[in-house]
Amino acid sequence: MPSPELRDDEVLVQVHAAGVNMLDAKIRDGEFKLILPYRLPLLLGHDVAGVVVKVGPLARRFKPGDEVYARPDDFRIGTFAEYIAIREESLAIKPKALSMEEAASIPLVGLTAWQALIEKANLKKGQKVFIQAGSGGVGTFAIQLAKHVGATVATTTSSANIDLVKSLGADIVIDYKKDDFEKVLQNYDVVLHSQDAAALEKSLRVLKPGGTLISISGPPDPAFATGIGAPWFVKLIVRLLRSTTRTPCFMRRGRACPMNNC
Ligand SMILES: NC(=O)c1ccc[n+]([C@@H]2O[C@H](COP(=O)([O-])OP(=O)(O)OC[C@H]3O[C@@H](n4cnc5c(N)ncnc54)[C@H](OP(=O)(O)O)[C@@H]3O)[C@@H](O)[C@H]2O)c1
Repeated sequence: MPSPELRDDEVLVQVHAAGVNMLDAKIRDGEFKLILPYRLPLLLGHDVAGVVVKVGPLARRFKPGDEVYARPDDFRIGTFAEYIAIREESLAIKPKALSMEEAASIPLVGLTAWQALIEKANLKKGQKVFIQAGSGGVGTFAIQLAKHVGATVATTTSSANIDLVKSLGADIVIDYKKDDFEKVLQNYDVVLHSQDAAALEKSLRVLKPGGTLISISGPPDPAFATGIGAPWFVKLIVRLLRSTTRTPCFMRRGRACPMNNC
C-alpha cells in the first residue's frame, strides 16, 4: 500500500506497535458492514503507538520525534502498517513510563472503559460496580479505572484468570463457569455489560433501584449513526436493531432510557 496522504490537520506517525482489537476482528468478519461501510483493500488496526515523522500545516500540538499513541478515527484506521496519518485531535503524547507495546494496548479499550464508567455511568467513590469479563481487554482496564475512582469492583472470569483480575484490584471475583453472579451480587450501582442477552437480563437483577447498566456489546446506537453522518435508512435500521436485540446501550433500572436509544 502507498504511504497515507496527510491532511492539513493530521500528523504522520511511524508505527512502532499496534494493538489487535476485537473491533478489527468484527470488521474483518463483516459484522459492521452497514454502519462502517469500508471498501477493500482495507488496512485494519485501531490502536497504535509510534513516533511523529511529519505534521500537517494546521497541526500545532506535535512535532517530528514526539512519541505518541492513539485510537485513529473511523474511516482513517489502519495501524497494521508502517505509517498512519492521524487527526491531531485524536493523538496524545505517550506516557514515558510505558513501552510502545504497552501504550498500543490502551487506546480503544481505555476509551471504551472511560466513556462507559466515567462519562455515561458517572461512577463515584464508594459505589459498587459489576464489570463482566474482567480478564478481557475492556475488563482489565475497567477494573483498574473503577478502583482508581474508589469504587468496589465485582467481576466474572474463568478459573485461569482469577489471580489476574485480583492483581488488578477486583474485590469480588466470580468464576462464571462455576457460579451464577446474579445469586452472589446485589444492590449494585453500576453494571458494565459486555456479554450476551442472558447476562444482560441477569445483570438487571443485581442492580439496585435507580442503578445504571451500560452495554457495550449490542449493535451501534442511533447517536453513533448520527455522529458518523450515516444516511437515514442506516439510522432507521440501527433503531430497529436496538429495539429488537434487547441490548440497550444505557439503562436505569425502573426508568426509561434517558438517551431514548432503545
Ligand atoms: N475491545 C474494545 O475496545 C471494545 C470496545 C467496545 C465494545 N467492546 C465489546 O466488549 C466485549 C468484550 O470485548 P474485549 O475486547 O474486552 O474482549 P476480549 O479481550 O476478547 O475478552 C473477552 C473476555 O470474556 C471472558 N468471557 C468469556 N465468556 C464469558 C462469560 N460467560 N462470562 C464472563 N466472561 C466471559 C473471557 O474470560 P476468560 O478468558 O477468563 O474466560 C475473556 O477474557 C465485546 O462484546 C466487544 O464487542 C469491546
